[in-house]
Amino acid sequence: MTPRLLVLHGPNLNLLGLREPDVYGYETLEQVNHKIGALASSLGVEVGFFQSNHEGGLIDRLHQAREEKVDGVIFNPGGYTHTSVALRDAIAGTELAVIEVHLSNVHAREPFRHHSYIAPVAIGQISGLGSEGYLLALRGFAARWSEAN
Ligand code: DQA
Repeated sequence: MTPRLLVLHGPNLNLLGLREPDVYGYETLEQVNHKIGALASSLGVEVGFFQSNHEGGLIDRLHQAREEKVDGVIFNPGGYTHTSVALRDAIAGTELAVIEVHLSNVHAREPFRHHSYIAPVAIGQISGLGSEGYLLALRGFAARWSEAN
């Protein structure tokens, strides 16, 4: 059996590399996804990617992931982290195993970034380690999957 993972990127992450590089780094989303994909194949994980700037698009993709019975989701909800009850409800409602990832350390930034609607329905959160955070989340996902299967 091959574990299946969805990597979900929220709003503005399509601008990675161009957007506030002092905060988010110079790597593009394509480069980050490429690194995730390379590690996923070496770990034997099947991975899909999706980015949307729209709350509803992200919710629809989570619903689809439930239908596809993916084994987990690595999710950077961007600014919706701090605002979206609807995304929180989508995760709770789909019962997907979500690992929340942030490139920057949201807890060391403006107070409005300190609260996450996603964290209470996620299995864990990685924040502040740049794109390495996605790779650590992937390793965590693979280790959890192996233990359970
Ligand atoms: C982010 C942190 C959020 O506060 C911000 O709105 C983002 C990116 C991160 O990856 O550090 O868009 O999720």
